[in-house]
Amino acid sequence: METIIEEYSPGAVARAGEIIRRGGLVAFPTETVYGLGADAMKEDASSKIYAAKGRPSDNPLIVHIADMDSLNVISEDIPDAAYKLAQRYWPGPLTMIFRKKPIVPDMTTGGLNTVAVRMPDCPAALDIIRSGGGFVAAPSANTSGRPSPTCAEHVIEDLKGIIDMIVDGGPVSIGLESTIVDMTGKIPLILRPGYITEEDIRHVAGDVATDPGVLSAVSDKERPRAPGMKYRHYAPKASMVVVEGDNDRVVSYINGRIKELESEGKKCGVISSEDNKNSYICGIIKCAGARNRSDEVARNLYRILREFDKEDVAMILSESFNGGTGSTAVMNRLLKAAGHNIIRV
Ligand code: TXA
Ligand code: MG
Repeated sequence: METIIEEYSPGAVARAGEIIRRGGLVAFPTETVYGLGADAMKEDASSKIYAAKGRPSDNPLIVHIADMDSLNVISEDIPDAAYKLAQRYWPGPLTMIFRKKPIVPDMTTGGLNTVAVRMPDCPAALDIIRSGGGFVAAPSANTSGRPSPTCAEHVIEDLKGIIDMIVDGGPVSIGLESTIVDMTGKIPLILRPGYITEEDIRHVAGDVATDPGVLSAVSDKERPRAPGMKYRHYAPKASMVVVEGDNDRVVSYINGRIKELESEGKKCGVISSEDNKNSYICGIIKCAGARNRSDEVARNLYRILREFDKEDVAMILSESFNGGTGSTAVMNRLLKAAGHNIIRV
């Protein structure tokens, strides 16, 4: 298939909308990561998303909307807390889960009786959703198991030749996927941490809890609340380990380990903080940002993982970026990429 690649413009939006309305696939930017969009109300269109990504069909999609009226068309039993959260954080990097109305095809929700809904804060995304009919199912626009795309080049790497169109809106501003909150229980339950933190949600909606699977390994036998959490996501090709502990010990452990691996002929990568980037004496060093600036690390993490894939490193050693506001989301993605492989020194 020939994939149309176009920069964001009124013409591109019109073409993207037409492709979506006739059941095709269009990748487009959002403020979090690039999404792979299809008409959420068409069974056949949603099913193409799973095929293009190589994604298991029991892993439900997020329905993206561009106005509040659309929320009531697809979901029911919407609690007051959800309206408060929507008023404060929509458009924005927040996904909420509700009971679904029958109009939403089972293919879109992976057979669940709930639907995940988000209104993204990105002009290109909002324009394309409107032009595409108002309900656009969109997972991250990566091949299943690869890091989510934070610029159009990443989408091209994974999906060129497989989907109808890629709209290039430049690099995203956040870099990690939206916060997902299940609104079907007594209190909001965070299933995936993101830019909007537990504190942010508590501030607006009162009581809130975080799914215990968020920072620990989830066994394959349990059935996680967000089906996507059971798959090994964001995985680089290399083995990866997160090294945590006293800063000097972390640096000297990483230096020692890389010397060892390089002497065996293995190529190694380091994910370093700004603070330590000049302290490593070997390996390919990539700086993710200042230790206490989770926003910087979020923006850089997936790009760095993709670069290491290209450079064919055998082992990635990463510093831990624990602590500081917003670090929960960064640590969740980092630990998933590492398969929860942590060394404490
Ligand atoms: O920031 C984002 O959310 C991006 C952009 C494109 O909007 N989208 C995204 O979609 O990250 P995806 O498909 O890569 O991740 C969606 C996650 C999956 O883990 C899925 O299992 C979960 O949301 N999910 C979707 N619908 C659900 C539902 N009804 N109940 C529980 N989890 C759900
Ligand atoms: Mg994804």
